[in-house]
Amino acid sequence: MLNFSFHNPTRIHFGSNQITQITNEIPADAKVLLVYGTGSIKNNGVYQQVTDALKNHQWFEFSGVEPNPSYETLTRALPIIASENIDYLLAVGGGSVVDGVKFIAAAAQFDGDEPWDILAKGAPVTKALPIGAVLTLPATGSENNGNSVVTRGRDKLAFASPLVKPQFAVLDPAVTLTLSDRQISNGVVDAFVHVMEQYLTYDVNGKVQDRFAEGLLQTLIEEGPKALLPTTKDDLEIRANIMWSATMALNGLIGAGVPQDWSTHMIGHELTGGYGIDHARTLSIILPAVMKVKRNDKHGKLLQYATRVWNITDGSDDQKISQAIALTEGFFKEMQVPTRLSDVQLGETEVKDILAKLDEHGMRALGEHGDIDLTVSEQILNSALV
Ligand code: NZQ
Ligand code: ZN
Repeated sequence: MLNFSFHNPTRIHFGSNQITQITNEIPADAKVLLVYGTGSIKNNGVYQQVTDALKNHQWFEFSGVEPNPSYETLTRALPIIASENIDYLLAVGGGSVVDGVKFIAAAAQFDGDEPWDILAKGAPVTKALPIGAVLTLPATGSENNGNSVVTRGRDKLAFASPLVKPQFAVLDPAVTLTLSDRQISNGVVDAFVHVMEQYLTYDVNGKVQDRFAEGLLQTLIEEGPKALLPTTKDDLEIRANIMWSATMALNGLIGAGVPQDWSTHMIGHELTGGYGIDHARTLSIILPAVMKVKRNDKHGKLLQYATRVWNITDGSDDQKISQAIALTEGFFKEMQVPTRLSDVQLGETEVKDILAKLDEHGMRALGEHGDIDLTVSEQILNSALV
């Protein structure tokens, strides 16, 4: 196992009616900015629950944070923070809102020239406003980590800082019942790929991490499709298992002390930045191609994945691996997400364009060995074509 330091300070309140915990979590004298997206929380009662919990606080609101939150939108919150002396941010929404709030928290206290430098130049985050989160879409793990992804034009860039980890997060599975099938699918697939990118590398004898990861993958494989079936889609137990899996998938626990490979995400970000493909749908296209192209390097872990996650016992090692890749694609299809670039009307012309963007963004040494250069990315993209 590799060395690691692990610190996750977010207090999680999980279950029904836990939104009421906000009242005690946010200091009574705080000036709160409630930040949300494009309106779903107004339609499903979450806004009402949150504002009820804030009734004895002084609070303001900022809305309109869109999926793949844009720099332009987020920076519009900064003058409100300055003029109202806001000292606490409450994110209510999916990963985009939580990520957006993290950027706002850092930008509001940024000393440099332009807050975009945090994303584009890796300018250090030395201070940030405190954050609380009410999660409405299980997918990203953003409610329990220090990562944030922000878009400006075609650039979809990330930063990470322990200073923007939420102080607390409320996870009430009931609020996920108003999600569309598309958002449920996206969430399950995003979480699945988060686990895979911390698992499908090479063996360092991280038994706890591996078995936690395998448990999360099996839970998502079991429960994900049920959240789309008319007979079970409103089952709160299913939603609860999906929600907790998504948080555990990217809160640092399973990735501590093991190698990681974020190539699927980095290539995927260029598909979202360039063509507006939903984040998770970029991952379901790219991951199978990474598994195929990096099959030899990942042989040991692919075999472990085949036998432990999919319980494949028959055939040669190579046959087991091929079957595991096919079953992974089958799972994605069951979750109604695309698995090829042609499924989203992208082809060879776009592959060239995506490679140019990877180059521009410095994505020339991806993967657990840093050996996915632009030539290998091209192989991956070509393998994902049809
Ligand atoms: O705009 P609102 O009204 O909030 O509606 C949203 C949005 O339209 C809607 N929605 C959310 N909760 C709902 C709901 N609709 C009905 N009922 C509910 N309960 O769903 C739509 C999508 O929301 P969004 O927040 O964009 O989805 P998601 O949580 O998948 O977040 C995606 C963003 O997170 C980034 C992605 O790149 C993308 O920008 N990621 C963040 C990560 C992190 N912080 O660690 C890691 C991920 O890999 C990912 O990159
Ligand atoms: Zn993701």
